[in-house]
Amino acid sequence: MIEKITEEELKEQHFFAMRVKSVIHMFDHKPLAYTHSYGCQQNVSDGEKINGMLTEMGYELTDDIEKADFILYNTCAVRENAENRVFGNIGAVKNIKRKNPDLVVAVCGCMVQQEHIALQMKKKFPFVDIIFGTHVLHKFPEMLYKVFEKKERVLSIPECDGNIAEGLPVRRDSGFKASVPIMYGCNNFCTYCIVPFVRGRERSRDPEAIIDEVKGLIERGYKEILLLGQNVNSYGKDKGVSFSELLRRLDALEGEFKISFMTSHPKDCTRELIDTIAGSRHIAYHLHLPVQSGSDRILKLMNRHYDIAHYKELVAYAREKIPGLQLTTDIIVGFPGETYEDFKETLELMREIKYDSAFTFIYSKREGTKAAEMEDPVSEEEKGKWFRELLEVQGSVGDDAYKKYVGETLSILCEGRGRTDEKYLTGKSRQNIIVDFSGDDSLIGQFVSVKITKALNWALIGEIQQ
Ligand code: SAH
Ligand code: SF4
Ligand code: F3S
Repeated sequence: MIEKITEEELKEQHFFAMRVKSVIHMFDHKPLAYTHSYGCQQNVSDGEKINGMLTEMGYELTDDIEKADFILYNTCAVRENAENRVFGNIGAVKNIKRKNPDLVVAVCGCMVQQEHIALQMKKKFPFVDIIFGTHVLHKFPEMLYKVFEKKERVLSIPECDGNIAEGLPVRRDSGFKASVPIMYGCNNFCTYCIVPFVRGRERSRDPEAIIDEVKGLIERGYKEILLLGQNVNSYGKDKGVSFSELLRRLDALEGEFKISFMTSHPKDCTRELIDTIAGSRHIAYHLHLPVQSGSDRILKLMNRHYDIAHYKELVAYAREKIPGLQLTTDIIVGFPGETYEDFKETLELMREIKYDSAFTFIYSKREGTKAAEMEDPVSEEEKGKWFRELLEVQGSVGDDAYKKYVGETLSILCEGRGRTDEKYLTGKSRQNIIVDFSGDDSLIGQFVSVKITKALNWALIGEIQQ
């Protein structure tokens, strides 16, 4: 049974926040906090809650790490290179702390939810004051208070899954795009993946809480809502409401807005979901459907619970129903025991499906996962070669895909200054395709009609229609 964190517990944390506020109020300058989140949108969303709590405590956020009174790294454990980067960056904080002994340093997130890494970090970096896992985010004010008041180092890595905390303050990075987690954790245990170990079991938020939050965001002028979950298609199994049903209820809200979501697991992605997107007013025509491998043998070893035939059927149905669907994916190269023959099936799938874009990764061994125990005879060098071959194939299939949009007028949510060129504004279509066009900054955060004049292989160029 998933418990919610009680109002009393949240009040208690608010009380700690106010005590921190009174301490830092005594500084002879405005207290500044620097935070950085690595990893997926879920982590970025947690980072927005941390920033919300810091703001409540009276900190101002800064991009200048050298000037900060408080530094926090919110870490990701999904691949080894992500972890190495974090170790490097934390190591560099030592010099800043030497110059400013009052600096408080915190490390949180998925990496330190693994006890062995948390302990390693505590030992290796004595200047880190607070280390806490993903399940105790809401207790951050209390931990910070302990550092100020008791001069203690705090380590908090509870093993139990985090209860759901509704109503934490959030300081969103954008004024028109908002991430809304609909569920936490993952039950799938894909054999390569650390996420179920660092995020705990799947638990869904109440549909009413999600709908209220989204309604409030739309009323405050937010134009894009990104629903988050490691496998959104299994949302609500513990609530008696399916993901499709939740989407339909959100789509029924009034206003001018777009709903996107990630990630869809192919084993749980249903025709009902595809029909819901196709029949909606506000849902993006975009499916991120990670296939991971084109080989049924490897998919089985990965514990993915679908085969390529099922995957292709889903894609065909989605492409038939959803106008101009943008299809994107994740792929892992060099899973333990994968042969070049298996890998060729992934290449073939890429050529056949012609993804709009693909996030490709070389397999990274994660301690504690099943795949870490499997024989892995192929060298890193060989895997690197396969990886480059995959990039080449993906690069060649993407060409021309967007030409069909030239001449069409699309509704674009304008997001900021251009990606192709600073002189342009940039935004995304209902398919979440990048579109650059000329215009002034007052359009940022608004929907605008843009006539497409040119197609690049990763974006469109157009002109505003009056
Ligand atoms: N829950 C999402 C994504 C989680 S992590 C999903 O199921 O799709 C994002 C991507 O990182 C995964 O889709 C996978 O392609 C990649 N990934 C996860 N673990 C990995 C590992 N050990 N090595 C390499 N890539 C990995
Ligand atoms: Fe990891 Fe698989 Fe869960 Fe995605 S569905 S988070 S890849 S275990
Ligand atoms: Fe990384 Fe944790 Fe997300 S491991 S990908 S930040 S859930």
